[in-house]
Amino acid sequence: MLKNVTSLEVEIFSKCNRKCSWCPNSVVDRFSENNYMSEETYLKFLYDIKKEIDDEDHFKISWSRYNEPFLDIDLLKKRVKQARDIFPNVILECNTNGDVLRKIGKEAFDGLLLDIVMIMDYDCKGVGHGEELFKKCGVKKLTDIDRKDCEIPLGYKKDHILLGTSKNIKLVKYVANWPETQDIQYRGGVLFDYDQKKNKELVSNYGNKGKKLSWHKGPKDYSTRGMMNTTNLNPRRKEPCNDPTTGIFVDHNGSVTPCCNIRSDVDMHKDFILGNINKDSIDNIFNSEKATKFRKTLKDGDWKNYPLPCKYCMSPLSKPFANKSKIKLIKKLRQKGLEE
Ligand SMILES: C[S@@+](CC[C@H](N)C(=O)[O-])C[C@H]1O[C@@H](n2cnc3c(N)ncnc32)[C@H](O)[C@@H]1O
Ligand code: SF4
Ligand code: SF4
Repeated sequence: MLKNVTSLEVEIFSKCNRKCSWCPNSVVDRFSENNYMSEETYLKFLYDIKKEIDDEDHFKISWSRYNEPFLDIDLLKKRVKQARDIFPNVILECNTNGDVLRKIGKEAFDGLLLDIVMIMDYDCKGVGHGEELFKKCGVKKLTDIDRKDCEIPLGYKKDHILLGTSKNIKLVKYVANWPETQDIQYRGGVLFDYDQKKNKELVSNYGNKGKKLSWHKGPKDYSTRGMMNTTNLNPRRKEPCNDPTTGIFVDHNGSVTPCCNIRSDVDMHKDFILGNINKDSIDNIFNSEKATKFRKTLKDGDWKNYPLPCKYCMSPLSKPFANKSKIKLIKKLRQKGLEE
């Protein structure tokens, strides 16, 4: 049984076409080659998940980890469709750097059965470009009436977030001017300078090029939201983390990791791999002694025993669309679509 699990993150292949300076991919090679998860592994995994979860209505699958999922758009469509056939009601979502959408527009969305697509404007092309891109992709901006019906605050970050809807993709979110508007997260400490005991100084290599990126500071002191100041190693995290309890995270090579920050191709994360779906069932992996112990340490707030990637991690961050409100929103947008 996968008790308490409400989300799944899975990488169907490894490649990304960018090397953003703020992303762990700036120091781990995801550019030179593309390694795929086999169809057999993928389908067996989804059917195993189906057997083990008890509440499909409150479940979400995401295809973004550290690749660019739209690079092989035909495969993405196929894999999303396979998931949709197995889980008719689950929320299906994906993040993208938008490069493929900018190139082929609407064609990318045709037959792509996702509920949510989040497009990042890493080149700082701005809100106007986002509106153009929406047109090119057949996405209608949400009107104030739509926003009201779906309980999205009218003024919600309107200066840099565009929200739209299209025939099959219920929510398209465009984040304009990403390197200017977003704060950088710790991401398992890959970009931390352990000699200097502070975050590395990073500059943007895309939009706002050459300008310093800002690290997510969190509040000065610990808060109940589990965030902390990561500009130095003191203070350290003393807050519980539920991510390994509520989520399952799978790399293209089948490795299962405890959260979105920990990945199988980062040396300092290797000890935290929980198992591999090519060799074992997800039920065995998730309920293994190793995984159970890890979750317990993090969930109980046993902070003295937090391992290195967790000691200075500030996840979970405040997320604008937490799982519950996301589900509510997509359900409302699906109903609206039916009435049109
Ligand atoms: C790793 S990406 C994968 C999908 C796609 N390639 C993209 O960039 O949207 C998933 C999300 O992580 C974000 N991300 C990567 N490194 C980050 C960091 N250090 N701090 C904050 N967000 C980060 C990206 O902006 C993106 O929204
Ligand atoms: S943020 Fe996305 S586009 Fe940039 S390197 Fe990471 S995975 Fe690739
Ligand atoms: S505290 Fe640890 S388990 Fe939780 S998100 Fe951070 S790195 Fe992952």
